[in-house]
Amino acid sequence: MRKKVVAGNWKMNLDIEQGKKLVNEILAGMPQLGDEHKVIICPPFIHLQQTAQLTVAANRVYTGAQNCYTEASGAYTGEVSAAMVKSTGALFVILGHSERREYFNETNEMLAKKVNTALENNLQIIFCCGEPLEIRDACTQNQYVEQQIIDGLFHLDAEQLSHVTIAYEPIWAIGTGRTATTEQAQDMHAHIRSVIAGRYGKEVADSTSILYGGSCKPSNAPELFACPDVDGGLIGGASLNAADFHGIINAMVEQ
Ligand code: PGA
Repeated sequence: MRKKVVAGNWKMNLDIEQGKKLVNEILAGMPQLGDEHKVIICPPFIHLQQTAQLTVAANRVYTGAQNCYTEASGAYTGEVSAAMVKSTGALFVILGHSERREYFNETNEMLAKKVNTALENNLQIIFCCGEPLEIRDACTQNQYVEQQIIDGLFHLDAEQLSHVTIAYEPIWAIGTGRTATTEQAQDMHAHIRSVIAGRYGKEVADSTSILYGGSCKPSNAPELFACPDVDGGLIGGASLNAADFHGIINAMVEQ
């Protein structure tokens, strides 16, 4: 059976002390997680080592980065490699978040390279996809998201894909308070799963976790997570507040 996952994406928030406090609060109130659950905390790079150390003893709670660079090392001022991320104790990396695609011009081609370097360094990947509003309005979101997945992931074999969790985040729902309806989320998640089945077969598709992201909060998480193809969430704003994050984790556990 595929895993259920709640991942918190802190984005560019919190200094070292604030980060430590939040991780401790998250751990202190963590609901009982089962074998089928994972919680992943994804802070900015500066927090990774501290977060990995704080979470190492916690059951089924892991640390992830929000990005890594395409290259292994060298003269790339300001960048951080997958090997460096791994050396902090982090086990995951988010790749292809829409903010990286939009503000830092990350292309599908670059993301395919980042996917490779992450896997070469034994990082698990949360691979983001999702359409902007004009694509949704033109009703071409299925083709748009399918292309992101083909370009970013379809060079992998099935074993490599087993290290990838997909996060569907409609850009028009991120940080806007406007959540996708459960029907919109379920339709896209089912589409993504069928695209994976077309390339890798049903068994692989059925074991791939697909998370929803975009204004997910304790109040809407239960109905979103109840959708048969929604396997949890990638949480932005609500992951910065321990009580809200717990509420969303509870929604996963209570499914
Ligand atoms: P949000 O962000 O929950 O604040 O909408 C989600 C994300 O971008 O990962």
